Amino acid sequence: MVGNRQVRHTFHNISDRTRSISNLTDGVIQLRPLTQADAAAHLAGEDEEMAKWLSGGRSTAATVQTAIDKFEEQWRTGGPRRAFGVFDCSNDQLIGFVEANLELLGNPAEVNVSYGIFFPWRGRGLAGRAIDLVAEYLRSATEARGIVLQIAPENGRSIRVAEKAGFARVGVHEVAEGQRVRYVRKL
Ligand SMILES: CC(C)(COP(=O)(O)OP(=O)(O)OC[C@H]1O[C@@H](n2cnc3c(N)ncnc32)[C@H](O)[C@@H]1OP(=O)(O)O)[C@@H](O)C(=O)NCCC(=O)NCCS
Repeated sequence: MVGNRQVRHTFHNISDRTRSISNLTDGVIQLRPLTQADAAAHLAGEDEEMAKWLSGGRSTAATVQTAIDKFEEQWRTGGPRRAFGVFDCSNDQLIGFVEANLELLGNPAEVNVSYGIFFPWRGRGLAGRAIDLVAEYLRSATEARGIVLQIAPENGRSIRVAEKAGFARVGVHEVAEGQRVRYVRKL
């Protein structure tokens, strides 16, 4: 079952993969798969909110290295987790993270997307831009039909992101970490 799901999401071939991730930019930010060269900046960008809502706790140099190793392997093998760094086009600095997870929801049509923007760059609508670019990628590289965001009810900033980006609230679900408001948007 899981095997079938992965096959459906796998890139058609390597040139599709290269094409779909080579130019993910809107001129303000660019999405690129994270590499070990980004590890220090990724760790430095983690504040309490990123740790609480995105990383599942505080990271260390070692946990970031392991996480990026896993992301790189997922890209190499066409796995279900597609993790991108968010880069500022004006200086190529790493300013956030966004991930599409093709298997988390157990339904190949729905992709779970999570995101974080480092503190100094918040409040400029960049999370919404990152979601739009991930959506562009998902349309070109997968057969997914919709994006799902799962947001803690007390994470008001992220709920604002979902609402501003045109997601529809479809209910509150219980996950291992607590309650999550579920938002959906068609691809
Ligand atoms: C949630 C998050 C991704 C929003 O990213 P962003 O690029 O700042 O998003 P926006 O610019 O659209 O701002 C969203 C809301 O944050 C608030 N905000 C505005 N300026 C802000 C600032 N300087 N700093 C923090 N929050 C600010 C506002 O309420 C804003 O809503 P508004 O546009 O209606 O005023 C970011 O706060 C973050 O990374 N948080 C930690 C990780 C996280 O919670 N991820 C989501 C997991 S579901």
